[in-house]
Amino acid sequence: MKFFVDTGDIAEIRDLAGTGLLDGVTTNPSLIAKSGRDFLPLIAEICDVVSGPVSAEVAATDYETMIREGRKLSEIADNVAVKVPLTPAGLRVCKELSDSGTMVNVTLCFSAAQALLAAKAGATFISPFVGRLDDVGTDGMDLIEDIMTIYENYDFPTEVLVASVRHPMHIVQAAKIGAHVATCPPNVIRQLYNHPLTDKGLATFVEDWKKTGQTIL
Ligand code: E4P
Repeated sequence: MKFFVDTGDIAEIRDLAGTGLLDGVTTNPSLIAKSGRDFLPLIAEICDVVSGPVSAEVAATDYETMIREGRKLSEIADNVAVKVPLTPAGLRVCKELSDSGTMVNVTLCFSAAQALLAAKAGATFISPFVGRLDDVGTDGMDLIEDIMTIYENYDFPTEVLVASVRHPMHIVQAAKIGAHVATCPPNVIRQLYNHPLTDKGLATFVEDWKKTGQTIL
């Protein structure tokens, strides 16, 4: 499973890139606003730090402006994935950009029917938002299972990018289903490392090693 980080915070991205476990980055207009940074130079900077796909979302909602924005974003770096909303106009932009060799991430997916359309439009990634589905009393993971089944039935190359991840169990459940990617807030990636028995066990080992009076180096 690939791990993307869902943030516009370049310091977090640099830090997580240093783990060697980061495969890509996703951003959205809300995360860009939170970063306080200028969008285009920020995406260029992220693309320098991370060699995997970096999702940069269009701001418009009409086809004509979205396609122009998408082309401009795709020129920032080869690893930009243009992010478009799951609307008729967004999928039209997806088809056109995908046909011309640009990676496209179709975002704001909340149903299997929408995911089927995105795959047919040539999306590189489909982003189902599991946390926001959970928030309204629907199990987001059911959607991941449905999309994986449909994509496998037809050998669609579109990768399922589990989005709106809120906690480590979302990632574990998505991995059990076989989803290709999870994009996670930085704190959730860090939570994956944690287990109290690891901390307790390590403290004991450190103490017991001291008793031996030995050194390895
Ligand atoms: C995905 O690409 C989105 O940016 C993100 O996962 C949305 O998450 P949220 O529901 O926590 O805002």
